Amino acid sequence: MEASMFKSQFKYYRNKANKPNERELGSCLTPRPTHGVLNDISEQSLKDLGLTDPTQWTVFEHNQHPGLLVVKNVFSNDGQYYWIHRCVVDYPAPPNLNNLSPIGLLSNDENWYDVCLNYSARKSAIFRKLRWVTLGYHHNWDTKVYSDDRRSPFPQDLARLCEIVARVVTGCGFSAEAAIVNYYYHSSTISGHTDHSEPNVDAPLLSFSFGDSAIFLIGGASHDDPASPILIESGDVVIMSGPSRLSVHGVPRILPAKEHPWEQLNNNAKADPHRDIVTEFISQARVNMNVRQVLFPGEKTLNGH
Ligand code: OGA
Ligand code: MN
Repeated sequence: MEASMFKSQFKYYRNKANKPNERELGSCLTPRPTHGVLNDISEQSLKDLGLTDPTQWTVFEHNQHPGLLVVKNVFSNDGQYYWIHRCVVDYPAPPNLNNLSPIGLLSNDENWYDVCLNYSARKSAIFRKLRWVTLGYHHNWDTKVYSDDRRSPFPQDLARLCEIVARVVTGCGFSAEAAIVNYYYHSSTISGHTDHSEPNVDAPLLSFSFGDSAIFLIGGASHDDPASPILIESGDVVIMSGPSRLSVHGVPRILPAKEHPWEQLNNNAKADPHRDIVTEFISQARVNMNVRQVLFPGEKTLNGH
């Protein structure tokens, strides 16, 4: 059988010999106004979430993939550092799940960051082996079905971030109930897939990326539809909404970041005792917080109760 259209494009962009040029990576993005401004959110709470003033955000929609939005200028430098710190220091710890426990490199009650900090021999075995952490309703990698028995509390700051971004950009409510935090290194990829585990696919999917850049390949409903590459840089927010919510997509390539905004800090983040190891990690990695609403508005569990 012939490889699908998505797969052959994926292979092309994965190949390091094919140097992508900036024009082909962003020329199909058209500016679009934001949906609303927030009168009821204090400057302090925006700052606590690492956000810039939403009037400064720039929203783009893809010409060929309606509903695929890229939002830039969302985070301050300190804000980028804040979320990188959350992904490196805090989220890879129980009750969240990670890829290293099932293969015996961490025990179920261990915290990845603490092990890296305290045991240098084990650090070298696991520091760049962390690939994913799941939050809230834990993604089931085999069945792709969520269950009320595999759910832990969703981080409040990340839920609040999503609620604000969804409201400013789409004008809609959003309840963050499941997330995959992906960790990528120089030759990591994520192949073409759709995210269809969520009963509520009317709600958009919100994706936040920090650290190294990526080529994100967005296709259509079928693996045979043509796909388009987009360059995603640190601090960018990708929203898969409307007709793009269920589109095939993947990341064929990680590229070194052109700038390191998370190193140019103003405030308290400077004094973070974890700063050296956080900076060491992100200088050669990309983190992506991929957040979904699972339930329909008003529902508290998958049973609808
Ligand atoms: C995912 C995903 C894309 C990215 O986690 O489902 O598609 O940009 N991630 O890392
Ligand atoms: Mn996905």
